Amino acid sequence: MKGIILAAGKGTRLHPITLPVCKPLLPVYDKPLIYYSIATLMRAGIRDILIIIPPDELKSFESLLGDGSKYGVNISYKEQKVQRGIADAFIIGEEFIGDDSVCLALGDNIFYGPAFRQKLRAAVKGLAEGAIIFGYYVNDPRPFGVVEFDNNGTAISIEEKPSNPKSNYIVPGLYFYDNSVIEIAKNVEPSARGELEITSVNNVYLDAGKLHVITLEKEYSWFDAGTADSLYNAAGEIRSAQRSGKMIGCLEEIAVHNHWINLDELEEAAEKMKQTQYGKYLYGVLNELRDEV
Ligand code: G1P
Repeated sequence: MKGIILAAGKGTRLHPITLPVCKPLLPVYDKPLIYYSIATLMRAGIRDILIIIPPDELKSFESLLGDGSKYGVNISYKEQKVQRGIADAFIIGEEFIGDDSVCLALGDNIFYGPAFRQKLRAAVKGLAEGAIIFGYYVNDPRPFGVVEFDNNGTAISIEEKPSNPKSNYIVPGLYFYDNSVIEIAKNVEPSARGELEITSVNNVYLDAGKLHVITLEKEYSWFDAGTADSLYNAAGEIRSAQRSGKMIGCLEEIAVHNHWINLDELEEAAEKMKQTQYGKYLYGVLNELRDEV
């Protein structure tokens, strides 16, 4: 399975912060926002990652992430020249996806929680045909895609930003699709706001009886970080969650656990950042693993 991160939002809702720096590179507590989506794909076991970026930002992304080899993954980049909506990711990514299935992660969505790795890997393994998305309970679902279930827990409708939501379950920005998503995206009509909506793609799968919605219980955390308030809240959430001693979204740690980098490579990364909390954490991971050997 291939992975795409849609990180092409300039972050107009975050001006003036995002005038010189695009949204995916802004900090969420101790690391850039984009780290969290990369972490999600890596935890799912996905190694081939296309990051869709805003125009003229390639240098900044490359200076942060390079070609991904320091995390044991292959990262490539493509620009989204005009913001045409989320489903455009599959048109931009057509060549990259090839004949494979694909997981799309939105660059401003953060997920974590116990055993999320297993949930993700089950989704990757279980996807022979169709699509897998998640449902997550929130108090105010109106700014999101909203999924409605019948009494048996089967999804029966999905609406984008409804003013009268039929449930409190929103569809967060992490989606798994079979290869037919490319053709589906190409045939989607732009919505009233002029975008190729991901909800329209999900509705094609729903109508064909090929959409599986997995609800994420409250022990999982999800938030998006597209506004000043949500960005601030996300930083606070990450900071308090990390008080347990476990870092969220630490790419080198995930890489070493996946056996995608070795202990020497981990040490190299730790050494480069040894003055920082992040570097010190990497040393902690390294020492623990060296003790195990
Ligand atoms: C997008 C999707 C929406 C989804 C949300 C998750 O909203 O359209 O269905 O629930 O991401 O963050 P947008 O970021 O375009 O407001």
